[in-house]
Amino acid sequence: MIVNHMKSISKKSLIKILVFSVFILCVKSLKAQSLNEIDLAINVKIDSIISLLTIEEKIAMCHAQSKFSSTGVPRLGVPELWMSDGPHGIRAEMNWDNWNYANWTNDYITAFPALTCLAATFNPSLSKEYGLSLGEEARYRNKDVLLGPGVNIYRTPLNGRNFEYMGEDPLLASLMVVPYVQGIQENGVAACVKHFALNNQEHWRGHINVEVSDRALHEIYLPAFKAAVQEGNAWAIMGAYNKFRGEHCCHNQILLNDILKTSWGFEGVVISDWAGTHDTSEAIYNGLDIEMGTPSNSNISKRFPYNNNFLGQSFLDKIISGEVNEYVLDDKVKRILRLMYRTSLNKSRPFGSVNNKKHLNTAYKVATEGVVLLKNTDGFLPIDISREITIAVIGENATKSMTAGGGSSELKADNEISPLEGLRKHFINATIIHSQGYTSEESNKKRNEELKEEALSIAEKANIVLFIGGLNKNNSQDSEGADRQHYNLPYNQDDLIKSIARINKNTAVILISGNAVSMPWRNNVMSIVQSWYLGSEAGNAIASILSGEVNPSGKLPFSFPKKLSDNAAHYYGELSYPGNGETQYYKEDILVGYRWHDTQKIKPEFAFGYGMTYTSFKLSNIISDKKKYGSLDTIKISCDVKNTGNLEGKEVIQVYVGKKNSKVKRALKELKGFEKLSLLKGESKKINIFIEVDKLAFYDETISDWNIEKGEYIIYVGNASDNISKEIPITII
Ligand code: BGC
Repeated sequence: MIVNHMKSISKKSLIKILVFSVFILCVKSLKAQSLNEIDLAINVKIDSIISLLTIEEKIAMCHAQSKFSSTGVPRLGVPELWMSDGPHGIRAEMNWDNWNYANWTNDYITAFPALTCLAATFNPSLSKEYGLSLGEEARYRNKDVLLGPGVNIYRTPLNGRNFEYMGEDPLLASLMVVPYVQGIQENGVAACVKHFALNNQEHWRGHINVEVSDRALHEIYLPAFKAAVQEGNAWAIMGAYNKFRGEHCCHNQILLNDILKTSWGFEGVVISDWAGTHDTSEAIYNGLDIEMGTPSNSNISKRFPYNNNFLGQSFLDKIISGEVNEYVLDDKVKRILRLMYRTSLNKSRPFGSVNNKKHLNTAYKVATEGVVLLKNTDGFLPIDISREITIAVIGENATKSMTAGGGSSELKADNEISPLEGLRKHFINATIIHSQGYTSEESNKKRNEELKEEALSIAEKANIVLFIGGLNKNNSQDSEGADRQHYNLPYNQDDLIKSIARINKNTAVILISGNAVSMPWRNNVMSIVQSWYLGSEAGNAIASILSGEVNPSGKLPFSFPKKLSDNAAHYYGELSYPGNGETQYYKEDILVGYRWHDTQKIKPEFAFGYGMTYTSFKLSNIISDKKKYGSLDTIKISCDVKNTGNLEGKEVIQVYVGKKNSKVKRALKELKGFEKLSLLKGESKKINIFIEVDKLAFYDETISDWNIEKGEYIIYVGNASDNISKEIPITII
């Protein structure tokens, strides 16, 4: 084919192509060269600045000067560093030295969908767009460091902060985090990837000691951080609150020195989580560069209130007495100055922008592509907008703000369209009636009974009921600082949904949450839609999905177990989650999420990678390019995908690989590649997914390195972890 094609190209054009290719190569190598030169020049500048700094000035750069900033060196024009949460938008301004908001009027922003939603899009190019838009907002608000993204792995559905992360699979999180980081940093704003590492629960987060095998650490919990550092070139990392093998993660020899800075070659800045520093010597030697959030002593010293930080006066004393060599301090300051050259000292960084149509459009696209259709009996959804029907919208989440609350990720959105508002705007021919159904306010039995009665009475009158509930950003729901108390829906919603469905069988449930929940009413309702915290455009996005204006294409980034004990962390009991108050043991080891469900043959309620659309797709001609591969080869999987339904739509083809008869414990299969593609009604496309053989390696604890086992493997191709169209045996020789 290629040869025939070449014949048809004239000699002249061939020469042109060759000359052009050589030109491109030259430009590329020149670029690389000039980048190295820039790096070198910056290093020279950094050294010259260091030589001008006093020890006191250098120490001051290693800790906070306010809640969200650290100091520069004004006499030399070295600027301050300004940081902001993250990760779904730029947080409102806080007071200098307390946790109250400053009540500015110019800090309204676009709220982007939560990272669970972004992960559910399975669309890395949308992640780039997300990062770019968010980075522009960070720049406009004069931030140098964005405290995000979060890539802690989804281990238990009770973790209050899962909504800020990218799900349970290390490959999915890796492929989604890299473009996000790149997008932010293209604006001259550092991404600060958090929380490194193993901060997989909020309960006892400040002191719980995580014991996990090296294998699970490297195969499950670290890959997304590694990708962010090595492929995304993240300029900053935030340590986690918890301990790992007895040492707090913000100054942890193994995590920060051995793995991050030495093995991965990270040359950026390690920032502590807020008040996550606990010891001066460890903070000095174990990889921390900037200490943030440790309470100040402003009552004692008005001028230097943060001097009592672990990296403050006591660090200074140790340098002056000679107990600590000054090069240890210089290494931290060099990293900080390097970050400044990439951000605040980068004169060519763009100015940024905020609250514009482009950003809203990004938020809308991510929101609509992330929503997951879980159940749709007899094509109950979409609802035709031309129908003159009565729709009862029931549930507190139809009107409750989901950008407020939740802890540090909370936002002051310029505008947040609620689901009810969105539905009213879209379904102009329908009569929409609304009832709150339940309240999340302090348990008020009488009020809840009244609300239920009112809800049932409108459900009876309506043609269709849309129940919009789920979790929220209240304490002990999807919120920082505490975990959920149980797996079922709060505020008696399970009972309410069942009662509504008894009265009106045309009921759909729209769950707003960042976590899996139990669904005892699954069989009683027609449709189930998993919506996440969708940000500014929430209502528009939900209405677009329910009306069919957008065809759903999201896939679950984590498994929904039927019951809590079906989840691996919970299966092993209290010592595994939440631990004994001091330590917890990740007894499920590498079998996290679908790896556990698959291997133990425990059917989940809804599986990782699952999600329906309003059209249908057929996969055919699924083949690998060879049967045998060497360790340096790349496996090519090809597949024809046809849209066999009546609507344009998007599908995610997923490739998993499993090792047969492995010498070591293995999951039945692991995600190794995916591709999202868009197809018109009736259209077909061929896709190729490439997997490098070395990505099939396991982390071998006997050699402390990756090891590719030879022998038979199975490649599984499908559109969900539990819907495999073809299994292809291959051999690694
Ligand atoms: C959170 C971080 C956040 C920081 C600053 C901490 O409590 O764990 O994720 O960036 O506060 O608000």
